[in-house]
Amino acid sequence: MGMKILVIGSGAREHAIATTLLKGASVDEVTVAPGNPGMELDGIRTTHIDPSNHAALIEFMQSSGYDWALIGPEVPLIHGIVDDFHEVGLKAFGPTRAAAQVEGSKEFAKQLMARHAIPTASYRSFTDYEAAAAYVTKHGAPIVIKADGLAAGKGVTVALDVQTALGALENIFFERRFGNAGLKVVIEEFLEGQEFSLMSFVNGTEFWPMPISQDHKRAYDDDKGPNTGGMGAYSPVPQISDDTVEQAINTIVRPTVEALAEEGMPFTGILYAGLIATDEGPKVIEFNARFGDPETEVVLPLLTSDLGEGINAILNDEQPTFTWRTDATGLGVVLAADGYPDKPKKGTPVPTIPADADSHIYYAGVKNAKNPVEKKTTDSTSSTGLVSSSGRVLVYETVAPTLQDAQSKIYDTLNALDTTGFFYRHDIGAKALEAVVPDNK
Ligand code: AMP
Ligand code: GLY
Repeated sequence: MGMKILVIGSGAREHAIATTLLKGASVDEVTVAPGNPGMELDGIRTTHIDPSNHAALIEFMQSSGYDWALIGPEVPLIHGIVDDFHEVGLKAFGPTRAAAQVEGSKEFAKQLMARHAIPTASYRSFTDYEAAAAYVTKHGAPIVIKADGLAAGKGVTVALDVQTALGALENIFFERRFGNAGLKVVIEEFLEGQEFSLMSFVNGTEFWPMPISQDHKRAYDDDKGPNTGGMGAYSPVPQISDDTVEQAINTIVRPTVEALAEEGMPFTGILYAGLIATDEGPKVIEFNARFGDPETEVVLPLLTSDLGEGINAILNDEQPTFTWRTDATGLGVVLAADGYPDKPKKGTPVPTIPADADSHIYYAGVKNAKNPVEKKTTDSTSSTGLVSSSGRVLVYETVAPTLQDAQSKIYDTLNALDTTGFFYRHDIGAKALEAVVPDNK
């Protein structure tokens, strides 16, 4: 009999994880807690348990005979959900509270990297405005201001001038824009170069890297507008050389997992390294203790082995197998509600996007339409019966032989749709194409 797996989370990332798990022969059943009604359109089960309610999740797993849980988002990991599961003898794929600090505290991550000579932007941390402002004024711009702790990717300001940097500090210290996350600020050297994401399956000191991907953090085309949770991604990233990836594995991923194990907090789960390929080699801008979003939505469709079997092997301390397509590109574009990231407009009917064997719709911020005006079932653009419920509504993803093919497929479809009330970037993957040097040059 195949395995029964509980996936915790509610976004497009968890939709992609559940879909990929269900593709494998080793898995019979996947339930997502709490999931979203978009997943249900794909026949994925959901259960309305809040990820912060560890006791209810434990009770659900025990009473329904789940083999293990996979934790999607960072918040439950940082709150120790894996420790709580272990305490009652349940298996969970994700790091313990201690190991999840690589994501939960920038200060922890920075100190770990400093102790182990892992390349990253130089930094200083401050707990009061005056000292931070004096440092910024002395140092000058460009400079990067980060609220310590969790701010869902939105607590970072890349300031190109001192005024912007001081404004960011004021937001953090005086307006408490990021709540408790803002009580400490990390001020970082600006790193110049292309960004890429390197995720690995990790079991203590052993790890299995996935193909690299590139996210697009800014809200609008040409990297304009505010930072978001991510507006689209593609994998692999041809302009980042194999040598650079190899170097990132040897100077960043391996020493990091070894450092965590050596310091008594071995990491099990997904270690996400957010990197910049600088002239001096790859350097870390952040670690996450989980699958990236939207990177996962474009990387997992390239997996050719059984995801559940691989993770199950790790959870049993056995050698897993992960194999990937190398003849194709995965590319996904986020459809976001107008107003995202500041004030996303809710309640807009979600258009139907035609999916096929090579493409997927992974849903995130959606809920079922309640009233008939929202439903408008005769209107083909709202036949999903879903309306927007938060900023990132869905990821439309495809796998195609080339990056250009993937782009054409996604944009031909999106551009032909009525997307009133939503927006998306039109340039996902453009950096890979720009980086290709024309033959006649
Ligand atoms: P983070 O939440 O730390 O990933 O930061 C959000 C985004 O800000 C990153 O994806 C980068 O695009 C940018 N960023 C963060 N740190 C730096 C840095 N030190 N130098 C240049 N860009 C950065
Ligand atoms: N895409 C960046 C993240 O998952 O944090």
